[in-house]
Amino acid sequence: MTMALEGFIRSRNVKWLLYYGLRWKVLFFIIYFSRVSGQIRYSIPEEMKKGSIIGNVAQDLGLDLKRLRAGRARIVTGESVQYTELKTDKGILVVSERIDREQLCGDVTPCSFSFEIILENPMELHRVTVEIIDVNDHPPIFPKNDIKFEISESATLGSRFTLESADDPDVGLNALQNYVLTPNYNFVLKLYVNPDGSKYAEMVLQKPLDREEHPRLSLKLIAIDGGNPQRSGTVNIEITVLDVNDNAPVFNQSVYSATVMENAPKGTYITTVNASDADSGSNGLVTYFFSNLKRNVADIFKIDETTGIICLAGGIDYEKDKKYEVRVEAKDQGGLTDTSKVVIEVTDVNDNAPLMNVMSFSSPLSENSPPGTTVAIINIKDADSERNGQITCSVNINLPFKIKSSLSSYYTLISDVAFDRETTPEYNITITATDSGSPPLSSSRTLHLRISDVNDNAPLFNQSSYSAYVIENNSPGMSIFTVSARDSDWNQNAKISYHLEDTQISGTSVPTYISINSETGVLHALRSFDFEQIKQLNLVVKA
Ligand SMILES: *[C@@H]1O[C@H](CO)[C@@H](O)[C@H](O)[C@H]1NC(C)=O
Repeated sequence: MTMALEGFIRSRNVKWLLYYGLRWKVLFFIIYFSRVSGQIRYSIPEEMKKGSIIGNVAQDLGLDLKRLRAGRARIVTGESVQYTELKTDKGILVVSERIDREQLCGDVTPCSFSFEIILENPMELHRVTVEIIDVNDHPPIFPKNDIKFEISESATLGSRFTLESADDPDVGLNALQNYVLTPNYNFVLKLYVNPDGSKYAEMVLQKPLDREEHPRLSLKLIAIDGGNPQRSGTVNIEITVLDVNDNAPVFNQSVYSATVMENAPKGTYITTVNASDADSGSNGLVTYFFSNLKRNVADIFKIDETTGIICLAGGIDYEKDKKYEVRVEAKDQGGLTDTSKVVIEVTDVNDNAPLMNVMSFSSPLSENSPPGTTVAIINIKDADSERNGQITCSVNINLPFKIKSSLSSYYTLISDVAFDRETTPEYNITITATDSGSPPLSSSRTLHLRISDVNDNAPLFNQSSYSAYVIENNSPGMSIFTVSARDSDWNQNAKISYHLEDTQISGTSVPTYISINSETGVLHALRSFDFEQIKQLNLVVKA
């Protein structure tokens, strides 16, 4: 009854340690199944081919083949699946069904199944236990192909992200042993052991994420078992980095320069400012506006909030402002800002005619003024700049006057010849100032110059001598003749008075015979003439 047979260890993988460990269990079975007359134990790897020999039962039980046949030895089992078959002709036990350790035992280890071999005449019952040794026939498998995370780029260092575990139905060393994460900058892997001994992994953030640099990360988690050969399973870890408004907008230029023509119409395009923001979505949405704009400038320029286009909104006058400097601000939806400067230079347009101002003007001018006499001093200004403000000043070419530029913007009108009031008593002098713009603008002014008289002309008689006849015995006081002289001077200078020169005729002075009206030049006889006494009178009239 105490025939105890030690199990024959067929599996080469199993060490003697196992053998001794099993010995105590075997003893336990012997006590429990006291009816059992024999007990054998085999160890085989799982997944052996059908027909593979498990052991020589006849030999191990000490039975010959005749006894096996005569006793109609057979296997009895309560199980529906019969994994083994007894070949009574050879006394061996062979595999008759696929033996999958994982199906049979799952995680339970060691894994074995038992059955009885029964013989009749006399009845013998032998218990056979077959231990199934695990073979590394399963790789660790992850439940899904991908693990997806959405992690904010502001996630604090040390944040942990639990990773789904892989499953490896094999046991012992053949079961999952380790996890490995593909090398990367941001995450390290930490392994933990559950109370049941299974392992799981967590990713721990060790370096901050930056969406602007890497918006997505693709990592691989590899689960490795300890079998020989080693098997592994892989899962993709897809990390989407969520944006945080950690970037301010940045202008692509620190200064924008533009020019605009003065008098340009409203809506004239000036320039476009542009700022980029590395953030995404509303965090990267930039709006533009002017900052700290002076009131007078606020009405002149406008900026499109979304496009950054700056255009003219009001009148622009070079003569008032030659240059504008405005600050622009770019702001994202999270309130982060950047500023830049826009310098707008106004280009001059020839929109101002020269402005003429007569500073002094001497009229009338004495006709004896020498050539080169200053007639007028004129100030000419042009509000435009450069060529548009460059003045040339001229005077009618047919008149005897010249323009001289003395100081800048001061012009002197001078006479070019000696005047003669008697030929030209007045001049209408037109002075014209023209700028060099394109087209040029000009303005002119007419000065009315009068020439004042100088008594430079003596009275002139029409003839050098006149003859007149008087009948003798005339009545005294009779008008004999009228002399007339002309004077081309003016007014007093042309007022003529006549005198008789005191000449003698045969001892008597002429004025005793004839008088002259000094104003009218009418000659009167003062006495009655006698042809026999005086035949001829010569007299000299002075005008
Ligand atoms: C000058 O202008 C005035 C007014 O237009 C005119 O009466 C006068 O005749 C002009 N004199 C000359 C010399 O052209």
